Amino acid sequence: MKKIFSILIFALLSCSLFADEGMWLPLLIEKYNIADMQKKGFKLTAEDIYSINHASMKDAIVIFGGGCTGEMISNEGLLITNHHCGYGTIQRHSSVEHDYLTDGFWAMSRKEELASPGLTVTFLVSMEDVTDKVLNGVTPDMSDGDRATKILANIAKIKDESVKDTHYQARIESFYNGNQYFLFKNEVFEDVRLVGAPPSAIGKFGGDTDNWMWPRHTGDFSLFRVYCGKDGKPAKYSDDNIPYTPKKFFPISLKGVQEGDFTMVFGYPGTTQEYLPAVAVEQVMYDSDPTRIAIRDKKLDVIKAGMEKSKLTRIQYSNKAASIANGWKKWQGEIKGLKRLDAVTVKRNFEEGFQKWANDKPEYKDLLNDYANVYAEMKPLNLAYIYITEAGLGSYAVSFANQMRMLESCKDASPENLQSLKEMALSKSKGNYKDYDEQVEIRLFAEMTRIYKENMPEKYWPSAYSNIDKVAKSASDKYMAFAEYCFSKSVFANQTKFDNFVNGLSSKSAKTLTSDPIYCIAKEIMDMYKKDIRMALIDCDARIGKLDRIYMKAQMEYEPQKRFFPDANFTLRVTYGQVTPYQPADGIDYEYFTTLDGIIEKDNPDIYDYKVPARLKELYEKKDYGRYADKDGKLHVAFTATNHTTGGNSGSPVINGNGELIGVNFDRNWEGTMSDIMYDPEMCRNISLDIRYALFLIDKFAGASHLIDEMEIRK
Ligand code: ARG
Ligand code: GLU
Repeated sequence: MKKIFSILIFALLSCSLFADEGMWLPLLIEKYNIADMQKKGFKLTAEDIYSINHASMKDAIVIFGGGCTGEMISNEGLLITNHHCGYGTIQRHSSVEHDYLTDGFWAMSRKEELASPGLTVTFLVSMEDVTDKVLNGVTPDMSDGDRATKILANIAKIKDESVKDTHYQARIESFYNGNQYFLFKNEVFEDVRLVGAPPSAIGKFGGDTDNWMWPRHTGDFSLFRVYCGKDGKPAKYSDDNIPYTPKKFFPISLKGVQEGDFTMVFGYPGTTQEYLPAVAVEQVMYDSDPTRIAIRDKKLDVIKAGMEKSKLTRIQYSNKAASIANGWKKWQGEIKGLKRLDAVTVKRNFEEGFQKWANDKPEYKDLLNDYANVYAEMKPLNLAYIYITEAGLGSYAVSFANQMRMLESCKDASPENLQSLKEMALSKSKGNYKDYDEQVEIRLFAEMTRIYKENMPEKYWPSAYSNIDKVAKSASDKYMAFAEYCFSKSVFANQTKFDNFVNGLSSKSAKTLTSDPIYCIAKEIMDMYKKDIRMALIDCDARIGKLDRIYMKAQMEYEPQKRFFPDANFTLRVTYGQVTPYQPADGIDYEYFTTLDGIIEKDNPDIYDYKVPARLKELYEKKDYGRYADKDGKLHVAFTATNHTTGGNSGSPVINGNGELIGVNFDRNWEGTMSDIMYDPEMCRNISLDIRYALFLIDKFAGASHLIDEMEIRK
């Protein structure tokens, strides 16, 4: 352990110029990165980024909800994140009467801010290297099982002790694939209110068409406010709560960016896999990504056709469609990028040298061979897993039936238990069927059944599939006929049927369930998965986890000159780079920024993704940009830089050399999405909203200048 890190430090000292690859731990910036950062234009110190003694940037950054980043922009708890991060919340507040997705929402006073139960905001209090404590008592000759048990027990103990008698929450994560461990102490706020969101025609401008693309014109931000109890501590929602005063918030710069400017993105990147062996990269490129893409192609066809039909269906499926499309498109870019880099060959060439080096090292010499064996074993399991989760259980009627499995316990439930089963089911029903359209679901069920049946071996088909031909008779689309049949016979088909069933729940209802076609399909697929797939996959994962740990350590010893950063694991990281354009293909040069002019160019009332709101056009006509215009007189919308980011970095502050907020990170370019597996300085760019566009929208478009007044705006 100690040895790897002394090698690491040596590597850092011996290397002076780095590409912008890497997601660094804030605690270690002082040691590893600050000199390089300052050379590139950062004017502050490592203490300004992360300090436990006084307020530092890390105190202004939060985990927003479950998977995004957000940052504080006033001393009254005002928070900015992406529109797509607030999307679920905005949707939950939306109805046909109050359609905040379409019309936007702006609280003109604190009273109008909308409580959003379930939404949390998490601040990092401190982080600490606890490797020695976590590995305490772990010995090289231990079995894998004993090792894991020991580590889990240590982790539980350290966590308990670290937050005893506090209201903090503890989290311990492994770094460098299990070679190092850090403890994070967090403070979680539960009263978070929606303050502002532009209409989707701005916040999601370009929609799924432009998603992952550059040039980009999305006003991807939304505003929330963190509330706390009178004592300044987290508290459940209450009218008496007050806006939270954070230890630190970001001042906002109106200066904008020039090519070559230093930028830093500080947030919560979710997952990267930079140190995979070639066999694993192959599995991503040729199995996992293409299979998921093909299934989602179909899902999106069905859902989009439904969304065209009615306003209600559009609202109901907007969030689902966006998240299905997001992965779908990213994986396509990832495959292209990995092919362009010839990633498998690059890895293989590396592995050739590595193997020669490892041949006389007993602990490393079989690594690559072992990897090849596990991945070969895992291949069919991996595919089965994808067909089960994305297709077999992948339509919402089936997945809801699967969630309702405990209803079967009505068979021998006491009257009280029966009552609580009912209550549970009715409350879940509300959430599920709010965003559900039976016609869309019948089609989705038909298509997912088709895919599942055509790709999974017969032994994995649920017994109801034997009815397909019988039911279909001479129907032109037998899967559609089968779907209609199943829905006509199922209590899961729609909310009325389901709620009626639940209201009449008795010990006899178990029989209804076990003869319900949708219920049986869900149950049989899930049970088969548990029996035949899950344990085998867990076993492969455990073996891969162990190989990853050893291979990581080995790679660091093999290349002592190289600076290794730990893969992203949704912990707070610093990534820094420069504002830089790129060439997506021979003969094409992209600018590093976009402007409102481009939004007007894209305007097309016939295409949903490109309908520019009239009010925005008016402001454009009048060139009424106020102090938010760039020196060039234009209103800048977004810009690209070389920061190495990934999913989870959405909403992260983009910070200039003076520590001021200049943008909000919201995407990567399509040509660069393979950076989760292999970074390419030529091609990989993060995409940020220019903060001046957000301010312009808040001030000029929405007339919410009271929000601007609470920010610290620097000229
Ligand atoms: N691609 C961005 C990210 O990975 C934005 C996704 C939301 N936008 C959308 N059109 N689906 O999260
Ligand atoms: N949109 C992504 C997110 O929600 C960020 C884009 C990326 O994957 O880099 O975190």
